[in-house]
Amino acid sequence: MKTNLKNILKLSFITLIVLSKTFSFATEVLFSPSKNIEIKLQLIDKKLYYQAKFNNEKIINNSLLGLVFQENDSLVNFKSLKIEKSEYRGSWEPVWGQSDKIVENYNEISLLVNELNGSRQLKVVFRAYDDGFAFRYKFYDNDKIVNLMEELSQFNFSKNNNCWWIWADYNTLEKLYFNTKIAKAPHVAAPFTMQTPKGNFISVYEAAIDKYSSMTILQNEKEKTNFRVNLVKWSDGVAVRVLDSLISPWRAVQLSSSAGGLMESSLILNLNEPAKEQNYSWIKPINYIGIWWEMHLGVTEWKLENNRHGATTENTKRYIDFAAKNGIDGVLIEGWNTGWEDWGKPDAFDFVTPYPDFDIYEITRYAKSKNIEIIGHHETGGDIVSYEKNLDRAFKFYKDLGIKYVKTGYAGPVNPPTEHHHGQYMVEHYNKVMRKAMEYNIILDVHEPIIPSGLARTYPNLMTFEGVRGMEWNAWSDGNPPSHTCILPFTRALAGPMDYTPGIFDIKLEKFKDKRVKWNDLDRGESSVHSTISNQIALMIILYSPMQMASDMIENYENHPAFEFIKNMPTTWNETKVLDAKIGEYVVVARRNNKKWYIAGITNEKARKINLNFDFLKDSKEYKFSLCSDGKKSHYEKRPHLYNITNGTISSNSKMQIRMAKGGGFIMIVEE
Ligand code: NOJ
Ligand code: CA
Repeated sequence: MKTNLKNILKLSFITLIVLSKTFSFATEVLFSPSKNIEIKLQLIDKKLYYQAKFNNEKIINNSLLGLVFQENDSLVNFKSLKIEKSEYRGSWEPVWGQSDKIVENYNEISLLVNELNGSRQLKVVFRAYDDGFAFRYKFYDNDKIVNLMEELSQFNFSKNNNCWWIWADYNTLEKLYFNTKIAKAPHVAAPFTMQTPKGNFISVYEAAIDKYSSMTILQNEKEKTNFRVNLVKWSDGVAVRVLDSLISPWRAVQLSSSAGGLMESSLILNLNEPAKEQNYSWIKPINYIGIWWEMHLGVTEWKLENNRHGATTENTKRYIDFAAKNGIDGVLIEGWNTGWEDWGKPDAFDFVTPYPDFDIYEITRYAKSKNIEIIGHHETGGDIVSYEKNLDRAFKFYKDLGIKYVKTGYAGPVNPPTEHHHGQYMVEHYNKVMRKAMEYNIILDVHEPIIPSGLARTYPNLMTFEGVRGMEWNAWSDGNPPSHTCILPFTRALAGPMDYTPGIFDIKLEKFKDKRVKWNDLDRGESSVHSTISNQIALMIILYSPMQMASDMIENYENHPAFEFIKNMPTTWNETKVLDAKIGEYVVVARRNNKKWYIAGITNEKARKINLNFDFLKDSKEYKFSLCSDGKKSHYEKRPHLYNITNGTISSNSKMQIRMAKGGGFIMIVEE
């Protein structure tokens, strides 16, 4: 009864909406509830601008707002205008997440502006929270098709901030980061994170992307610190095409005086609609292993031909047995269905036909008998036309078998070939799959996605996403340097959960060397993971995902003392605290699940010592800890396998110094 109640999504405990009357407008100021953020809205020479201050630092200078429709019809000159103000104070409990209660306090201003030479109206809604602000457009044109060509929304940063960025690309987000001044970042994929000269942090992203295209952030050619929203277009050049009501995603600016504050913020989730009140007890966060890394290593294959098939009944049973014995909730199986031999051809997959050596009925029966969840796989190769045709029967097939979790994948160019991965066509596709999955009680892990925009608040079955240069790159390319995972928590991860798939123990990819067959052009035969084992386990805590993978082959975990730290690892938390962090250098996080704390740290290419104190324990009790940390001689390239396990007791006033090796880290479990 208790768990049931807990799983029912509860809405705000206080809801206070104060609607005030209509004002006429020249300059208006919107403050966040605690007044640390100040947004000034102004009409200057008929044009609408906003500017923003955070902790008394001017962070954004006057930035233009407006829309451009087809045939240069721009909605950017305005005359009269009205405003409405409201306040909201509340909190809500997510079905899963980094904390069990999310405070949602904001002040809102809606501007209703009339165009200068015409009768159209545009609504621009601004919200100020204590951890950032956001705005969105609402435009209605009854019974007409609205063809939006551009949004004029600017982010005119006051200073040439220090930033972490990847190149904008309309098809992929699997890239390495640059750390430069913003003037050296011409075209960027969001979230776009930066630090001001005064030491404040800003990250620009979008929330609630639906019936719209996704955005990139484009620098102004002349004013190099002035950026604007750039929408990913349809093949005919239109950015967004809708019938009568155009509602943009929220343009969100996260603000914090510390890097860790960005990680702790719930702004993107808060900007989404609450889930319809409903029982979501079927939606359970899990940890999982899978028939996955062996294919990326080229030890086995997805396809049946060549006699090197990974997803056999026998191999899958081995994984199920291992999971059942070792406190792992689920097993992912890739390459179980026909079509991999026709990769890239239209209609390669039908999503319901298993290879003859994979007895899916026996597998699901066996998994159920051992209380293990199966994570099914729909690789589409980007063939959306074919996937949408098969969607109902593909989900029904899994549902009938009792498979609740599905990993989807879009590796390859989109079919129809004219459209981009990040344009409106694909946004509508991803959201259709999300809604369809909800109908079938299916939980999603989306690879090659549009990265999350907080829609999981409304659709908690939308659990995790790739949209990152993840672990797979270490199997068949030069891989990811240690600094990469010290940047991700402050960039990609601000968008939402991330299926990075950490947890590799055979760092040098040695054990199955003789069985590996090269299959990827980027593989120069020198691939390796670039971290120590302690770092790999720490990533499972630092890179949040409600479906978290321990991604190595089970042979590499067997009889490994460090694997104890992965067994029964929770993937949903009552609270999360960032204890210390410097973007690109190191991150130390503490997360609590019931009475257990998991404390994890990672560092970049530099070794360093971290001073931990445990005042977050808040009481005077004694706690047991076990710690897995780098050895004296650990080194991410030379000696990545060395680690020490230490056990002892601590209390809230204990202090501890932990050394992290180059490319290293640590993981500590603390319990009463
Ligand atoms: C790319 C995905 O990121 C990876 O996880 C998957 O194994 C392959 N595509 C094959 O579907
Ligand atoms: Ca991928």
